This record gives sequence, structure tokens and C-alpha cells, in this order.
Amino acid sequence: MNQGRVSRRTLLAGAGAALAWSASPLRAMLQQAEAEAGPATRRSIAALIKEMTLEEKAGQLTLMPAAWSGGVATDLNPPGADNNFTKQIAAAVAGDLTGVFNGNGAAMALRMQRAVMERSRLKIPLLFAADVIHGYRTIFPVGVGEAASFEPALAERTARIAAFEASGAGIDWTFAPMVDIARDQRWGRTMEGAGEDVLIGRLFAAARVRGFQGKSLARDDTLMACVKHFAAYGAAEAGLDYNSVDMSLPRLVEIYLRPYRAGIDAGAGSVMTAFNELNGVPSTGNHWLQTEVLRDDWGFEGFVVSDYTSDEEMIAAGFAADRREAARIAFLAGVDMSMTSGVYREHLPGLVRDGLVSEDQLDRSVRRVLAAKAALGLFDDPFLRIDPAREKKRSRLPSSLALAREAAQKSIVLVRNEGDLLPLSPKTKLALIGPFVRDGRDINGPWVVYGDNGQSVDLAVGLKNAGADFSMTLGSDVEAPIPGGIEAAVAAARAADVVLLAIGESERMSGEAQSRSEIVLPAPQQALAEAVAQTGKPIVVILRNGRALALHGAVKNAPAILVTWFLGSESGNAIADVLFGKVSPSGRLPVSFPHESGQEPYYYAHKSTGRPNPPGPLQEYKAHYRETANNALFPFGHGLTYGKISYSDLALSAKRLSGGSIEVAATIRNSGSRAAVETVQLYTHQRVASMTQPVRQLRAFRKIALGAGKAKTVRFVLTGEDLAFVNGAGKWVREAGVIDVWIAPNAEAEGVHGTFDFAPA
Ligand code: BGC
Repeated sequence: MNQGRVSRRTLLAGAGAALAWSASPLRAMLQQAEAEAGPATRRSIAALIKEMTLEEKAGQLTLMPAAWSGGVATDLNPPGADNNFTKQIAAAVAGDLTGVFNGNGAAMALRMQRAVMERSRLKIPLLFAADVIHGYRTIFPVGVGEAASFEPALAERTARIAAFEASGAGIDWTFAPMVDIARDQRWGRTMEGAGEDVLIGRLFAAARVRGFQGKSLARDDTLMACVKHFAAYGAAEAGLDYNSVDMSLPRLVEIYLRPYRAGIDAGAGSVMTAFNELNGVPSTGNHWLQTEVLRDDWGFEGFVVSDYTSDEEMIAAGFAADRREAARIAFLAGVDMSMTSGVYREHLPGLVRDGLVSEDQLDRSVRRVLAAKAALGLFDDPFLRIDPAREKKRSRLPSSLALAREAAQKSIVLVRNEGDLLPLSPKTKLALIGPFVRDGRDINGPWVVYGDNGQSVDLAVGLKNAGADFSMTLGSDVEAPIPGGIEAAVAAARAADVVLLAIGESERMSGEAQSRSEIVLPAPQQALAEAVAQTGKPIVVILRNGRALALHGAVKNAPAILVTWFLGSESGNAIADVLFGKVSPSGRLPVSFPHESGQEPYYYAHKSTGRPNPPGPLQEYKAHYRETANNALFPFGHGLTYGKISYSDLALSAKRLSGGSIEVAATIRNSGSRAAVETVQLYTHQRVASMTQPVRQLRAFRKIALGAGKAKTVRFVLTGEDLAFVNGAGKWVREAGVIDVWIAPNAEAEGVHGTFDFAPA
């Protein structure tokens, strides 16, 4: 028996995890881990911690980028000066590391774990983390794209497969889901989350956590999730990544904090801080956020990790004088683990010796991290997820690729289809034009560490697989013209019946640090679109995008527009499926598409103002821009099908809601000749309250299949809880008043409307 190993049972007992169990899924998982722990009880966690030096404790709280050069991973997270694998193994053996992230598969993990289990003093297994954001080898649509499915269960399934593949490659812990609400489309990380809406954000956060973590963390096919970036990272001023956030308490509590809470309530084992400051205090040094809200109020029992070097960045932010102070502030704020900067390993021992950090508090963070390792099954089997032979066997299985195709199909949003240009007959002579026709670089999208663009099905291959008759012309590069490109594209358009214009953003144009001041198509692509439109041939725009864009000219006016985001492995096949009507498009926009960049931040759930501009022309001294309409070009929730859908007959079960619930129903009809999947949405608005309320808020939605000529009654149930809001003191309240209610196809459509009185009991 290896004296250095500790079973989950003893660790959990030591962590006090056996006390006061509630229904929390994380607790349930820890409890299950305890029940399943191997019979060999070694030493208790308390004894282990007693045996650890201060340096070893600080080491357990220190996570580093893997030094084994990981290709794309290295591009994402530039290695530190000490990027040397042998040195890193030595550091791990010396107890200076709790684990590494974005490494290079099971072979790397095996070498490191073996070294630690054979040669380190305490034999505490390493933890292997990675950014498995929208797939591991099988790449699913980017987060915002998948959110367009309005199907959280789909996100749970794709996260499950991502966990299955990644855990097969030695990874224990993913830095996902990213659940930051994004209401300013200049912010490049919009692509990673679930868009602008709080309900969608909550449902997708929880679904993704469930998908990654499965029913038990102690299995070789699950990953521990990490809800990030806590908090309000998506509200960076002016959409500038890393910028300050200054936000009222009601908005923070009612909107921004809720998706994190949903992920935590779903059992997420860890939380990552954010780069931004919140109301003057960096998130990573924010005791109110990381301790009072997260632990005292929400009861979070996992551990908190800093985002990359965000602890050290408090120096540049003007919140800490030096690395030692940065370590102290972050640690005392409640951040258990430091990523990348090394400030904990460097300074926590000295801070304890100098009495600035208590050893009890240090021990508590170490216990949290060890409890996570125990829950992941690593104390019973440090090699649980490390089996180089397994890695390939789990990669890109036909069933995983089939799911990628389904997810991609469901993420595509048809935002315009004049004259029923789509679906296309397979006989149509097509000119496929644009920088994304062949797609070695850009198909998977940002935040893919381990997927291979070259393995993903691009548009040209997708069309070929569908038996389409098409020519192919680049016309332009993404951000630069190609000599003769426009002429070639115009000639190709002239020779065809319909143009498929594959334009948009490259992989590098969204994602971390990819803020844009203008969310428009690059000029060379716009010029290409204008020239092609001059031919008079009907254009189907196939938009590649990581955020909502402001569309102009020939693109805005194209008779058909498909928003296709970055769809991943099965991109081209899924787009072809929609183009030729093999599937009816069903996606809905999780972010509003404004008319102009200058409208940002634009979101449907905005306030009225005291001078709203009534629908119709712009009026003087009303809230509007001189140059553009106030509304969205394509609002949140918008998306067409190949059916002809109408909404009628709103019915309320009562005129008044006090206790209990009220039922709101409407009839949805498909009078078209093709089957459709309609996403029916329920919105409310409280007319008068002690805090002004958004003009609309999504309360529920349902996807329904409607055959040609068929109608269905869709019923929603609202309770008083749905109508609660957060007052100026940050408390949830319910107030009496008149409630507008809509069942509608999107956030700005009238659909069917009614009112009822709300009189909370
Ligand atoms: C990102 C995180 C990510 C981390 C590690 C940071 O730059 O903000 O989302 O998990 O790097 O790759």
C-alpha cells in the first residue's frame, strides 16, 4: 500500500464534507465520491495537511500552463519564460504545482503523473485542466451559436461528448462553461457564452455544467466544470475586453450574476474569477464577490481559481503594489488557486510566516482543492483519465460527429428569406463566392485548443457531399482584397442562377481580446458583396460570425441571409442541409443584430426611457439617434423557418394573478407547405413599479414541431416568482401592477398580446 495516497473518504471527512448535506448537486457528488471510495483508508486529509510544508500547501494552490509545447494551446496561452517540460516535471515532483493546463494529451499527463506518484514526497496527484470550450476533437458550434438552438438539452449533450473525448485524453477539469452575459457586441468573447438574455444564459449554464460533469465526477468520462468569469466580465465598458465594469446592484443581481448561480446550483466544482474590475475592485481581489456572494450567500463549496494572471494584473490595475500584495489580496478575497502568475507559490508561505495570512485559511483552500481531486477520483486512481490508448478511441466517433451535425443544423438562423428563395432546388446552378468557401483556417472558430480545422467539413465539401452544382471563387480574403478577385467573382455570379456569398469574420476577429469598434464586415468583403449584387443574381448570404454584426448595403439587402456563426466539425454539411431543405432552419438569435455599431450596447430587454420614440418615424426630442432606427435589424429571438407561421388567439386563464399561477396560451399555425420547428416565446413587462422595468423580458419558450397546414395551442404557466425583480437594495421583490404579456416569435414582434393584474399575495 502506498503510504502517500489518501482515499476520497478520508479527504472528504477531513474537509468536513460529511456534515450537513443538502440537496446541492456538488454536495451530492462529493457524497457519492465518498460512498464509492476505495476500501484502503490511508491518512486523513487533516493528517496530510499537517504533514505539508507551507511551500507544499502553496504549491497545491498553484496552477501553471503546461510547458510541453501544445501547439495551438501555446498560441492561446503564451508559455512563461520557464517553458521547459523537464523543469516543470521537477517542479511538480517538488510539490510546487497542483497541476497544469492546456497540455498535450494523455502521453504528457502520463509522464507528469508518473513522476509525481513515484518521486514526490506526498504523492498528491496532479490535476490536468484545459479550455474545452466547444468541443475537444469533435468541434461543436461556438457557445453563442449553440445558444441559437434555444435548446439547453442540446448543449448538455454536446458538453457530455466534449467531456467524453477530453477525459479520454487525460484531462480532469475544463475551464467551461463561460456564462458571461454579453450585451455589447463589440466584445469579442460574445462568441463563447449564450448571448444577451438572462433566462437563456441560466439554462445553458446549468445544461453545460450537467453535460461536463455527468452524474459523478469520479469517472473516466467526466470533467469537472468551471463557471467563469466571475463576475460580469461580459459587461466590459465599450465592449473593450478586460475593461472596467461599473454596474448597479439591481442589474448585477437580477441579470449578470444569475447564470453563474445557475451553473453553481447545477453542481459546478469550480469557479474562475474575471479579468475586469467591478465597481472599482478587481474581481480577483473582490472579497464581496468571491466570498460574501459566492460562499456566504450562495453556499458554493468548490474552489475558486484566478483567471490566468489576473491576480498579478491587480498591480497594473492600481490595486496592489507588488506581487506579494497581489497574492495576499487575491487570497484573502477568497481565491483559492492562482493560475499562471506563480504569486501564490512565491508569496503565500512568507505571508503566513509574517502573520498576514492565517495558516487556517491556507489549509481551508488546500482542503477545497484536495477535495476536488478526491471527488474526481484521483486519490483512488491518479491515472483514472490517463490512458494514451483511449485517447484515439474516443475521438471523433461517428455518433459524436452526428451530434456535431445536429448541433450545427440547429444553430443556423435564417434571418431573411424573401420570396422563399430558400430552400434551393438541388438543380440550381450555384456560384459559391467568398473567403469562407474553403476553410482551412477559420471553420472551428475561436477557443478551440485541440480541434483541427483541416478535419472539419467546409462549405465546398458540404455542397459537394449534397450533390450541388456549383462553382467556387474566393473573391476576396477576409480582411484584404485579392487581385482580380472581384472580377472573377462577378463572372462566376453571372454564370450562375443563385449566389451563395460566404462572408463574415475570421477566427481571429472574435474571441478573447478581439474587441471591435465597428461590428461590420471588413471593407474588401463589403466591396465584393456590392459588386456581386450588381449582377442582379439573387444572393444567399452565409454569414460567418462570432458576434452580432451590423449589416450594410448589398449584404443587408440580400433576399436570403443565414447566420451560421462558427459551426465546427460538420459546418459545411449542416449548412447544405439547411440550404437544400433537408432540415428546416430552427435557430433563433440569442443576440440582437443592430442596424449600426453605434447602437451598442443594444439588447432587447432595455428600459423605455421617459421619452420613447413611438414606432414609426423619428420624432424630435425623443430618445433616438439622428442616423438610425432605435430597434434591431434582426431582434433577439428572431429566426425564420421554411413554414408560414402565424400567432393568434391569446388566452389567459384569469384576469388576475395573486397566489398560484396563470396560464397564457396561444395558437400557432403553419399555413405553409413545409414542416417547421417554431420557437414560441413568452415575454412580460410590468408597466409601473418602484424600479423601472425592461420593455420586455423572456420568461419561457418552447420549440414545437408543426407539420404543413397544422396548428397547435401552446400553453405557458407564469407564477409570481417569474415577475419578481430586484430593488435598489439588491433584494428580490414582487409588486402589484399591470403586466403586459406577449406570445411572440421574437422580442420585438407583436405576436399576440394581453394584460393581467398582478397582486402578489
Ligand atoms: C481566459 C480564460 C481561460 C484562461 C486559460 C484566459 O485568458 O480568460 O477564459 O480559461 O485564459 O486558458
